Amino acid sequence: MMVDSSEMFQKYIHHPSDIYFYSRKPIENPFPDNKKECLVIVSKSAYERSDNLARYIPDHARIHMRSGSLPSIDEVRGIPSIPGLKYIIGIGGGAVMDVAKEYTALLLSDYRYGINELIADGNLLDSCQFRRPKIKLRLIPTLFGSSSELTKTCSFWALDGGRKFTLSHQSLYADSVVYDPALCQSASKELITISALDCLAHAMEACWNKNHCFITDHFALGAIRLCMNALSDNSADKEFSDLAKAAALAGLAFAQNGTSLAHALSYPITLQSRVPHGLASSVFLGELLENLKTPRPEIYSSIAEIFFNAGFELAHGLCNAYQDFYKSIGAYDVLNQFDIKCINPCEAAKSARLYTKYYSSVITLFESQAVDLYKVLISKTVSNNTGFPKALL
Ligand SMILES: [Fe+2]
Repeated sequence: MMVDSSEMFQKYIHHPSDIYFYSRKPIENPFPDNKKECLVIVSKSAYERSDNLARYIPDHARIHMRSGSLPSIDEVRGIPSIPGLKYIIGIGGGAVMDVAKEYTALLLSDYRYGINELIADGNLLDSCQFRRPKIKLRLIPTLFGSSSELTKTCSFWALDGGRKFTLSHQSLYADSVVYDPALCQSASKELITISALDCLAHAMEACWNKNHCFITDHFALGAIRLCMNALSDNSADKEFSDLAKAAALAGLAFAQNGTSLAHALSYPITLQSRVPHGLASSVFLGELLENLKTPRPEIYSSIAEIFFNAGFELAHGLCNAYQDFYKSIGAYDVLNQFDIKCINPCEAAKSARLYTKYYSSVITLFESQAVDLYKVLISKTVSNNTGFPKALL
């Protein structure tokens, strides 16, 4: 019997990347031809601190090293065009993943379009897709937070203009993603914590995104559980392995439905006071979790159970449990190193509402409520105004 034309199908999940986890056995090599032109975009700090990273850089590769956690349009423009380039490998944190995808977009267009044009109209890449099978993009995260390696989206920050821009296109999914927990081992505890908080934010955002489904819920709850285990546990080996798995699961969830309210609210914080993204994207999760009780009671209960099992008191609600957790991992201490008081709550709330993801949540937040969230954040933090910790930027 045919399906009635009035019936609808909802696409639940799609992912074109091959996902690898490091194994002591030889892994399948998605780049069999080592002679072809290859560009490696790598984080300078990861390159300098990790001995394990060299195994992912082909001998003949050209190397572009970058630093800083917020990629800009000018940075991508500054990478020279390479005729005949076939392989792009990104190794680093979320910023490297984004720059590698942005450069792939330029290569895909045969450098015909500029980044500004592609941001204005990502569909320009539609006409370039015939080149995509000849280009290989491999992404290797060294911090397990952004999960950008599993998304088709890349971001640019315009700190002067106070905006964040994104480019999103099907062709920007990586061909292969490699998770190697050893790459994270030499990063500072603070950096790992901030990255894990971003991962936690992605997983929770996947739960309250309007396009959630049972598959993304399953991945997201798994990621939340792994993040909580890792952040509440001091066992190093287990921690890194759990975070790598959490990044993969959160990425598979939010690559389907995108980030949402917590991220929209975080951008003004990062733009106005330079608070690292993972810290800013996770700072309101407690308040948003509390608002999940009505639209998604089953998910609220599942997350409450994860917090309970991790040892957090639920007698005063999930919001308080989350804030106890945020405090227990030292996140407020790091937040206090930034000039939170420079944030203007009304301007921040207006700015957050400019991002479409503000409206992509099952939770409704009025502008006055957003203003109140920023006011409470400012009242909770005591700025010592000593500038930005260099390790984070
Ligand atoms: Fe994020």
